[in-house]
Amino acid sequence: MNTNKVTPITDPDEIVEVLHLHKTSQPRTAGWSGGAAPKEDSEESANESLVLHCTKCGMSTSGIYLQATDKTRRCPKCGSILMYCPVCLSTVSATEKFSILKCDRCAADFITNSVIQYLTSRERSAREIVLSGIRATGELHLGNYLGAVRQFVEYEAGDNLCMYFIADWHTLTTCQNPQEISVNSIAVATDYLAAGLNPERSIIYTQSSVPEIAELALYLSMFQSKNQLEDLPTLKNLVRGGSFVSMGHLYYPVLMAADILGPLATVIPVGSDQVPNVELAISLAKKFNALFGQTFVIPRIGCHTAKVPSFTGDKMEKSENAPSVSLSDSLETISGKYLRYGVTDTGKRVKNDPGNPDNCQSVYPVYKILRENDPVALSTVEKECRSGVRGCRECKLELAKDIDTLIQPFRDRRKALLQNKKYVEEVLHFGGMKAREIIQPTVREVREKLGIVSR
Ligand code: ADP
Ligand code: TRP
Repeated sequence: MNTNKVTPITDPDEIVEVLHLHKTSQPRTAGWSGGAAPKEDSEESANESLVLHCTKCGMSTSGIYLQATDKTRRCPKCGSILMYCPVCLSTVSATEKFSILKCDRCAADFITNSVIQYLTSRERSAREIVLSGIRATGELHLGNYLGAVRQFVEYEAGDNLCMYFIADWHTLTTCQNPQEISVNSIAVATDYLAAGLNPERSIIYTQSSVPEIAELALYLSMFQSKNQLEDLPTLKNLVRGGSFVSMGHLYYPVLMAADILGPLATVIPVGSDQVPNVELAISLAKKFNALFGQTFVIPRIGCHTAKVPSFTGDKMEKSENAPSVSLSDSLETISGKYLRYGVTDTGKRVKNDPGNPDNCQSVYPVYKILRENDPVALSTVEKECRSGVRGCRECKLELAKDIDTLIQPFRDRRKALLQNKKYVEEVLHFGGMKAREIIQPTVREVREKLGIVSR
């Protein structure tokens, strides 16, 4: 973890002006201007949305503008020096973590000016903005890892701005147990980190920590036909299966569009089942831009791996009814699951029967994904299966070993993270702050374009 001490301003001659704060909904100027500090037990919380208001130039902006690297911290508009913590008004001395400053006295969190500029600059064309999310339905399985999270880590290694979130609002379509949603949100965040995502490089957050996403979804819904939503395969399947279909189900892709369009994301890495939803986001962005002028970036679908099958050959899913390969499974557990449940080529009943890997339901398709860069291993297994030299048991054990090697570092990191839940909570807290800074300007622009003006 990178923790730098930021030098406080000590020279009184540098003090030109005091910036003061008020809450967005409740302007509080009296008692705050001129440096009078609020009471120690003030209700002001680090999490609240604050508006920074310069007493000299009148500029107000959300977000706290501090220059982490600059000895003199100035209002970005008039250059007045910000010398006090905007919440407790004590002289600023702060500790930096994940590019966020925490006031040493009142523990308020501030995002630094340079980070805000980096995050919200519209001239980010040199970099991709990679965005994806996973619902808070529990620990990740092998399908989530190979289909989505492995790509997340690869994108992070490039010069991209990566935003990975936990889609807790989307989870409400299938789970309304508050305890479960909350525990599973932490579980997914833990698994993101265990998969190797670095919170210094990627923004990891919960969807619900950015209320503007819900607002944007509302605006977008005005441009989305109900028929098109009803035609999407996921909804059709729900209707066909006779399940209860809520407004949340129908609205699901619109909320997803807001997740994607809010941060002006350019690349969306998702598994193939999510492609129709991302396509809908693309069409909404084009429609809005055509009506109101360039607003949204048109994203593209990022690379994704083929569907990872379950033991029976359907899509591997988090489900209480069907087992899946959990990323925390041991080698023994993985081998045991494949030996017990793994459906292979049903035409090959004993070891020496000639088999066909293309008919294998659960083993060869995963092996193919894991060994995509090893054509020799693939053709050997294929030949041996077809000629009857190799039995399914051998393939299952070999695959289990491959999976074990793949997830070993994941398991180790996960074990350590489970001892440090506070760290995971902190990652989400700071990630939420950063994501909000990125998304707010887009929602503000949409609001203005639609004539929704705060009075
Ligand atoms: P689940 O279906 O297990 O509830 P999610 O729907 O939350 O998982 O999916 C999270 C991400 O993982 C999505 O991008 C999805 O496409 C991908 N994903 C999930 N299951 C698989 C799978 N079996 N094969 C490939 N990708 C998958
Ligand atoms: N619907 C996705 C899933 O079930 C999760 C998700 C929500 C998402 N919003 C998103 C994925 C935006 C990519 C982009 O997996």
